[in-house]
Amino acid sequence: MARVTAGVSTSHVPAIGAAIDNGKTRDPYWQPLFAGYEFSRRWIKQEQPDVVFLVYNDHASAFSLDLVPTFAIGCGEQFASADEGWGARPVPPVRGHPELAAHIAQSVIQDDFDLTVVNRMDVDHGLTVPMSLLFGQPRAWPCRVIPFAVNVVLYPPPSGRRCYLLGQAIRRAIDSFDDDLNVQVWGTGGMSHQLQGPRAGLINQDFDRDFLERIVTAPDELSRMPHIDYVREAGSEGIELVMWLIMRGALNDKVTQKHRFYHVPASNTAVGHLILENR
Ligand code: DHB
Ligand code: FE
Repeated sequence: MARVTAGVSTSHVPAIGAAIDNGKTRDPYWQPLFAGYEFSRRWIKQEQPDVVFLVYNDHASAFSLDLVPTFAIGCGEQFASADEGWGARPVPPVRGHPELAAHIAQSVIQDDFDLTVVNRMDVDHGLTVPMSLLFGQPRAWPCRVIPFAVNVVLYPPPSGRRCYLLGQAIRRAIDSFDDDLNVQVWGTGGMSHQLQGPRAGLINQDFDRDFLERIVTAPDELSRMPHIDYVREAGSEGIELVMWLIMRGALNDKVTQKHRFYHVPASNTAVGHLILENR
């Protein structure tokens, strides 16, 4: 059977992708940020996941205000890097896993969570920056990826509670897939940041550090935090953190923390990163 071996969470700041693509990772501004991912790059080489179930949000690249699904699962064969206004990032296309994605869609929808099935879409920095942080710059990505897009851009976002319970349903789906696959679930976005309005530039280190602790040790309690608390404490884009709860819901109650990293700032954002193993 397929098994969820680990969860990874990381911020997905677009400027990190630009630093990688333009050879700036050793610049004084960026070096401390990339140092926080050195362990992760070694770790994932050993782990060799077959499939990454990658929870991210689309930033008006594949979807527009014409159509905003709350939860969308990518069931296609391949997903190209989106052009976000300055050309597509020079990264390989993402190869999907249509069989596992279709299985998860049917299992989770019959388990009472409504998903939008997407057979064709481009994937933006929300997905490609975490890929680059963990896998570097290979000619082809070393595993299949199932993109899972969550609306945190247009109000109202899904609650943290719903995301956590959805993660549990995704776990049940993966556990019941009849193929021997090593699957990781990733949650991206956050940590505290606000890109607009009078509070633009907001960072809340106390909130972030508390979130990093509680998502490891007390996720059920953390999942009950209302969405308005994310916005008030972590900024309007801090709401991206609900996506980490999908990752956490897909893991065991008790996990082994392999790595924790926190760094301020990268662009406008507080960067957080966790690696949690299911054993
Ligand atoms: C930034 C961070 C994000 O999460 C994002 O989606 C866009 C921009 C930033 O810090 O600049
Ligand atoms: Fe974002």
